[in-house]
Amino acid sequence: MNKVSRIHCKALQSKIMTAEEAAALISSGDNVGMSGFTGSGYPKAVPLALAKRIETANSAGEKFRIGVWTGASTAPELDGALAKVDGVEMRLPYQSDPTCRKRINAGEMEYIDIHLSHVAQFVWFGFLGKLNIAVVEVAGILEDGRLIPSSSIGNNKTWLEQADKVILEVNSWQDSRLEGMHDIYYGTNLPPNRQPIPMVHPHDRIGDPYLHCDPDKVIAIIETYSPDRNSDFSAPDEKSRLIAGHILEFLEHEVKRGRLPKNLLPLQSGVGNIANAVMAGLNHGPFENMTAYTEVLQDGMLELLHSGKLVSASATAFSLSDKALVQLYAHLDEYKDKIILRPQEISNHPEIIRRLGVIAMNGMIEADIYGNVNSTHVMGSAIMNGIGGSGDFARNAYISIFMTPSQAKDGQVSCIVPMVSHVDHTEHDVQILVTEQGLADLRGLSPTQRAKVIIENCAHPNFKPALRDYHKRALEHSFGKHTPHLLDEALSWHQRYLTTGQM
Ligand code: COA
Repeated sequence: MNKVSRIHCKALQSKIMTAEEAAALISSGDNVGMSGFTGSGYPKAVPLALAKRIETANSAGEKFRIGVWTGASTAPELDGALAKVDGVEMRLPYQSDPTCRKRINAGEMEYIDIHLSHVAQFVWFGFLGKLNIAVVEVAGILEDGRLIPSSSIGNNKTWLEQADKVILEVNSWQDSRLEGMHDIYYGTNLPPNRQPIPMVHPHDRIGDPYLHCDPDKVIAIIETYSPDRNSDFSAPDEKSRLIAGHILEFLEHEVKRGRLPKNLLPLQSGVGNIANAVMAGLNHGPFENMTAYTEVLQDGMLELLHSGKLVSASATAFSLSDKALVQLYAHLDEYKDKIILRPQEISNHPEIIRRLGVIAMNGMIEADIYGNVNSTHVMGSAIMNGIGGSGDFARNAYISIFMTPSQAKDGQVSCIVPMVSHVDHTEHDVQILVTEQGLADLRGLSPTQRAKVIIENCAHPNFKPALRDYHKRALEHSFGKHTPHLLDEALSWHQRYLTTGQM
């Protein structure tokens, strides 16, 4: 590793310091915008040094806490370390760290769950308060001070523009050949001066490969050599394979009916193993020349690029296992023109998602018999991760698909319930529900018609009779017959699980 070689701007070389010295520049009460998206491109040294500082301060009786804003989830060295020392006052917009989740659900940490496409504009509008400091990982600094982004973009453009002060981590573990893969669009004005975003194909490049930052704002630069957190995906299990099979069959059917082109429309695939299994299914399916306009590029999508089935992929971050990372770097020159990483305000932008006609596929916790979807809360009150980009995509997609196994918690919980215990995606935004049992196409159906299809096609046989019974009695006794419910019973399944451990 040649540390100095990544910082080519002479004026900035004088700002190189240790992570501990940089962490000392952050004050209690600061809102800190950190890079990072699904374990990629997050700062690896300053948050750890800051956590140590906070631990010392708090054990001396001080209450040292900061606001942590990111692109999305990060890693144990960031979310985990800061949550462990109780150093986070407010977290946004998405997390998936176990310690963080525990503190939020214990009422010890504030958390705001925001659509990922909203974050940049909320900060620009000042809705979230002042952004004091940005801590952003980059892959290098050019002579003129422009920054080579690393393995995720997330909200970095916004953090660098909006923060008063900037700390940069220059990570030489990141492959220098990432240079040129990014597309940072600098044309998003505030209303009423907004212009159309000039993108009509998922592979259009509309911006600059580099991040810009006023060098006078840079207060510290830290050199690191640290890997991203690359989680392995489990091999698709039987249920994921069945879910993928139902989706493939549906897509083939849509092509036959002339409602989708032969190469489909740009794919968006959510996080997790089921989404990865769907990508694996597509690799063995009949579709060629596909494109992706998505949030994270996972293993399955890389495989599709490798096989040539996918001709281009636009995302805001990599989220690859170690094995896939080896493949990425072995073939980077081949992939370079096919992969574009963009700011999340663009990767998740409603205008573009609607224009491109994206096929959105996301995981969920539960759906109800009318098609409302809960992606975020267990038993209505405990946050799992957050809405992430699922709402950005589902609301604006050409087809919006939600998927889950039909049961959770070893069969004690039905993922199809009379009424969802928390609503992230309303019945108006959900078109297709899929479980390993089957697929429910809700387009063109009234609530009562939807209930029949969801119960018959998606619910597990163990819960079908009870769901049928609920719906039948609701039709008979409900106050209104349009979306029939028995209000004193609608959430009783969740309460029963909390009381008895079984729905
Ligand atoms: N009731 C209670 N718990 C449930 C449940 C239900 N109906 N369904 C799932 N769970 C629990 C599982 O038991 C598991 O808990 P554990 O970690 O304690 O074992 C956890 O939720 C995750 O479930 P899993 O089956 O592993 O699903 P997943 O990894 O596919 O994740 C979501 C599902 C909904 C949590 C995930 O897709 C998510 O965070 N979505 C929101 C964000 C999003 O869609 N992002 C993509 C946009 S680009």
